[in-house]
Amino acid sequence: MGFASLKPDVYWVGAIDWAIRDFHGYITPKGSTYNNYLILDEEPTLIDGVKLEFVDESIGNIKSLIEPARIKHLVVNHIEPDHGGGLSRLLALMPKATVYCTQKGKEGLSRYHDISGWDIKVVKTGERLKIGRRTLQFIETPMVHWPDSMMTLCLEEGILFSQDGFGQHLASSQRFDDEFVACASEAEIEDSVWDYYANILMPFGGIIKNKIEEISKLGVPIGMIAPDHGVIWRKRPEKVLGMYLDMANGKADERVVIIYDTMWGGTARMAQPIMEGLKDEGMDTRVMKLRATPLSVAIKEFWRARGCLLGSPTLNNNLFPYVGEFLIYLKGLRPKDRIVSAFGSYGWAGGAVKLAMEEFRNMKLEVYPETPTVNYRPNPEEQRACYEFGQKFARATREFHKRFL
Ligand code: FEO
Repeated sequence: MGFASLKPDVYWVGAIDWAIRDFHGYITPKGSTYNNYLILDEEPTLIDGVKLEFVDESIGNIKSLIEPARIKHLVVNHIEPDHGGGLSRLLALMPKATVYCTQKGKEGLSRYHDISGWDIKVVKTGERLKIGRRTLQFIETPMVHWPDSMMTLCLEEGILFSQDGFGQHLASSQRFDDEFVACASEAEIEDSVWDYYANILMPFGGIIKNKIEEISKLGVPIGMIAPDHGVIWRKRPEKVLGMYLDMANGKADERVVIIYDTMWGGTARMAQPIMEGLKDEGMDTRVMKLRATPLSVAIKEFWRARGCLLGSPTLNNNLFPYVGEFLIYLKGLRPKDRIVSAFGSYGWAGGAVKLAMEEFRNMKLEVYPETPTVNYRPNPEEQRACYEFGQKFARATREFHKRFL
């Protein structure tokens, strides 16, 4: 009996992936879940699928509640394979089911599955599906997370089935926010939301804000948010809605993160006094060496902090590759509202710091103009200059942070 009850006749029938540690390159130290939901109304309805490797688990949960052949509707909010991968297997057991998805969803499904025998109905924002006592309303949410994405609102229950939105990569025996907070902590769930948003949804903050507004204008009180990953927001959906709005509006902690890598220790010997300078100026500071830190963790720390100092040695007139990798990932996430600068050591010709600053300018981040560079390794005088640079950057970050208060 692996299912969980959200409300009478509304069930979670998904699967917990305790073992996943690499989610298409995003490191998931706490695993994840693939959530899908079953509504037992006059016309039984399944909302979303699960990853192919977990489809038997979901089928087992469904079978303990209903014979799958009786399912009348399958809502596909999002086609990415962590949700859509098992759809062919599910539909083979549900021959009478009509599939509801967006136009982009249909196009994408045709690339992943043989949909020739599927009864697909393309839906748009505002369209409704009456399944008995309950009504489902569809809301297209393109790019949250893929162009096909939509959310489904159960009007009578006030449950928003939000696919990737409001999710967390968090495997847990608890299915609900209140249960999780009671067993673990508020800080852990918050950190998981920051992590997920930073790595999956950061580029789409503006769209998210508009969609939250659009949904609130429907006038249906949202009593529960049921995402496709992590815990269901049963007790405090307003908590995650507030966090998303804050992040979309540029919220960050008053903190500086130093993200760096080093070849022979020169850049590391700059990072240390810079950190001391930041600390002595009263700035909360974290230091992350890229080769010791999964990229997705470095991105989350970047996103949580108001300021970032990026340290890179120069290798072959270029960025150190690990730093280059970080910048490529960061650029794609289109960050905003952060103050940044760069520092680093070089052997015979520099270049890395200049290239990092160019990237930051292209990202339209707030660029702090001073960029300490040293030949090979810093001498005591240069370390002192690094310390003072840390102090100055702390003051600049504090000033910049005020714009968002
Ligand atoms: Fe969880 Fe965009 O897939």
